[in-house]
Amino acid sequence: MAKDPVRVLVTGAAGQIGYALVPMIARGVMLGADQPVILHMLDIPPAAEALNGVKMELVDAAFPLLKGVVATTDAVEACTGVNVAVMVGGFPRKEGMERKDVMSKNVSIYKSQASALEKHAAPNCKVLVVANPANTNALILKEFAPSIPEKNITCLTRLDHNRALGQVSERLSVQVSDVKNVIIWGNHSSTQYPDVNHATVKTPAGDKPVRELVADDAWLNGEFITTVQQRGAAIIKARKLSSALSAASSACDHIRDWVLGTQEGTFVSMGVYSDGSYNVPAGLIYSFPVTCKNGEWSIVQGLPIDEFSRKKLDLTAEELSEEKALAYSCLN
Ligand code: NAD
Ligand code: LMR
Repeated sequence: MAKDPVRVLVTGAAGQIGYALVPMIARGVMLGADQPVILHMLDIPPAAEALNGVKMELVDAAFPLLKGVVATTDAVEACTGVNVAVMVGGFPRKEGMERKDVMSKNVSIYKSQASALEKHAAPNCKVLVVANPANTNALILKEFAPSIPEKNITCLTRLDHNRALGQVSERLSVQVSDVKNVIIWGNHSSTQYPDVNHATVKTPAGDKPVRELVADDAWLNGEFITTVQQRGAAIIKARKLSSALSAASSACDHIRDWVLGTQEGTFVSMGVYSDGSYNVPAGLIYSFPVTCKNGEWSIVQGLPIDEFSRKKLDLTAEELSEEKALAYSCLN
């Protein structure tokens, strides 16, 4: 029997990530090849015509799984009945800016859209915040939508996770699909800590630690980390626009794994509400290694954290605490 359609909201749908993301969703990349979807697309009035153009293209592409499209500039209409909300709407950073520089423009959007989601989304709606500063926007959304369970509000660090997989695969000349269990800790910013201490590569002789195969701690503790931390800026420098296809694809990975589950023995990185695990202060949206089952994520517990890593986990937590304070000062 055919499944009922799932309603997926994409805010900022007329923007560049939106343009890459909506066809992926309509093709089943996010929720599966047998899952019909109804797309809800929100943008602001100056982008209404462009949004309508995206809607026309979705119709023209004749996606078999796409059972309807709502394209609107009204947040209430956009949020009504949605089961998944991918929050991309906002302002991207430009060359020379840090992600927190877009703070004052973006956090106020997340405060106001929190209440539209809280009042009008379907019960148990899963929320993924992509717009920067992603962790702090997600935290503001959580704080101003108190009736949405905190487990349902997440932010995107899967792009950083995928970037880390990509760097290891390039360095070792192995398939990216054979590398697993890298971790992004903390903020989706240049203080994030890409950690390979638990990562492995599938080889004919079984899974081998990335550290053993790379055999170059100076690279793993230096250039590898900074490359992943700075990759967003490198894309902006090269494209004069921030990453879009990789962000859209990673957003699909994030929701797919959350809804359909992670593979046995594999963990992924998600920005989630911290419960104090790994001595990260509770009450931040912080990227952790997680596994997902039955539509719920759980933080992977008990991984040993060495002194080098501890400092990096703390540094990015400190930045998130500062961002939280700054966000509140922007809202006041
Ligand atoms: P973009 O400027 O191309 O598109 C953003 C869209 O949001 C525009 O169409 C704009 O009109 C719309 N918008 C603005 N205010 C809105 C509001 N209140 N409600 C609904 N829509 C609104 O930008 P983009 O390149 O698509 O990037 C979007 C965001 O995603 C940026 O903040 C960017 O920094 C961030 N980003 C995050 C990641 C990540 O990994 N977390 C990766 C890439 C980009
Ligand atoms: C990215 O990581 O590519 C995005 O967050 C865009 C940016 O501002 O770096």
